[in-house]
Amino acid sequence: LTAERYQVSRLPYSEVSVDDVQYFQKIIPGRVVTEEGELKVHNIDWLRTVRGHSKVLLKPQTTEEVSQILKYCNERGLAVTPQGGNTSLVGGSVPVFDEILISTALMDQVISFDDVSGALVCQAGCVLESLNQYLGERSYTMPLDLGAKGSCHIGGNLATNAGGLRLLRYGSLRGTVLGLEAVLPDGSILNCLNSLRKDNTGYDLKQLFIGSEGTLGIITALSIICPRKPSAVNVALLGCEDFSRVLQVFTLCRDQLGEILSACEFMDSESMRIVQKHLKLINPLPDNAFYVLVETSGSCGKHDEEKLDIFLEKAMDSGFVTSGTVATDQGKIMSLWALRERITEALAHDGYVYKYDLSMPVEKLYALVEEIRTRLGSSAQCVVGYGHLGDGNLHLNITAKSHSDALMSALEPFVYEWTSKHSGSISAEHGLGFKKRDHIYYSKSRGAVHIMQQIKRMLDPKGIMNPYKTIPPTD
Ligand code: FAD
Ligand code: MLT
Ligand code: ZN
Repeated sequence: LTAERYQVSRLPYSEVSVDDVQYFQKIIPGRVVTEEGELKVHNIDWLRTVRGHSKVLLKPQTTEEVSQILKYCNERGLAVTPQGGNTSLVGGSVPVFDEILISTALMDQVISFDDVSGALVCQAGCVLESLNQYLGERSYTMPLDLGAKGSCHIGGNLATNAGGLRLLRYGSLRGTVLGLEAVLPDGSILNCLNSLRKDNTGYDLKQLFIGSEGTLGIITALSIICPRKPSAVNVALLGCEDFSRVLQVFTLCRDQLGEILSACEFMDSESMRIVQKHLKLINPLPDNAFYVLVETSGSCGKHDEEKLDIFLEKAMDSGFVTSGTVATDQGKIMSLWALRERITEALAHDGYVYKYDLSMPVEKLYALVEEIRTRLGSSAQCVVGYGHLGDGNLHLNITAKSHSDALMSALEPFVYEWTSKHSGSISAEHGLGFKKRDHIYYSKSRGAVHIMQQIKRMLDPKGIMNPYKTIPPTD
């Protein structure tokens, strides 16, 4: 069904044979899964919108094992799909046909942590939340955070160049990742695993693997610079009458909170309705058209609270904000964050989700949501806009009872054309994966895609790595 819906045909890779399975059993005894029941969850994506038909899942524990597996698959012409926590929102982490799944689930060891520099070195399969816990015990924190933290793997985060809720403060993984190790399709191990803040010796090869979505090799380990855990965290949820006031709140935030601002997220009333409806979360500020969630993180509680108070007073006095609530204790902070972080989950309960992750000039951020609402009328169950306001990143989501070609045609290419016309990106942080591969041209020139295709061919001449994803085939 997936292949038909997206009109792709299987490329002439070899099919997995009994001999292949036996060979894998020899390299990783007891860690070769062929049982259909166990394979099922790995063949379906988090959104339950695409499904593959892999018959084998491999669970290596070491880089050496990954190397042996890839070398063999390359020689045999067997296609593979690397998989971390399988939380991809673009169908990148599941096979399209019968690609062999290579999971990082058992590559979950911290290798070292330097508590002076904050450099953490770990295997790619460490779960983001576990790393954050490990660091928390040492007064450090991960420089990224996202709603999928309980299941996504750090290797998957690198492979998608995940953005998330702290990007505004700590920057993207392209800056915080210091080094990585990857296994190339021919089994060779690329060691760029240093922990230096500064290193200008030649091309920065690690950047090729960050955001490569499993198409160039398998990231097996990495080094990342982690900030100190802030000792004072405050969260404010604010209600606004319209989107122009949301923008004014953002400007005021940057002005007044400066270096302690750690997140600035927005959601519309539909997002709020959906988390209340499906997750029974409580909205402490009912009846606002928009909400802004502001987080501060610093080292002196008193200083931060004073700053936050001045900011709130100004926001109220100037009429940017209609109502607000502030949290300083962990329980309330978490419940305010849940209203934003769990929208994705609530939407998945609402029906089939058409998901768009767009970046554009911040003042344009909500206009598209309004246009889509008018354009779709009653054919959509729900049209929702939320996102990383501070990063100019809109999450536009449409739900319907089930997938429909008519609704899809009303959305695409309209959404992409609109985004491109406003100089935006059609994938701000989720990647292209399977669903968005062919739309790359809305955001990248033919020349740029051509160089990507050449790089792909150089590193993966047989095209075994995550086929049908991310980079369109040459014309
Ligand atoms: P997977 O989904 O397993 O894989 C993702 C891609 O990377 C696939 O193409 C896969 O083949 C490849 N891959 C995985 N591991 C490796 C590896 N070791 N080497 C090479 N390739 C690999 N994204 C954001 O950017 N910001 C958010 O705020 C955000 N929030 C989310 C909230 C929810 C509830 C969910 C479900 C997803 C969210 N995402 C977000 C999507 C995001 O891409 C993933 O959560 C995460 O980065 C993927 O990690 P993963 O381990 O699950 O990777
Ligand atoms: C988020 O910011 O919540 C994530 O990117 C997931 C989503 O877009 O739903
Ligand atoms: Zn996001």
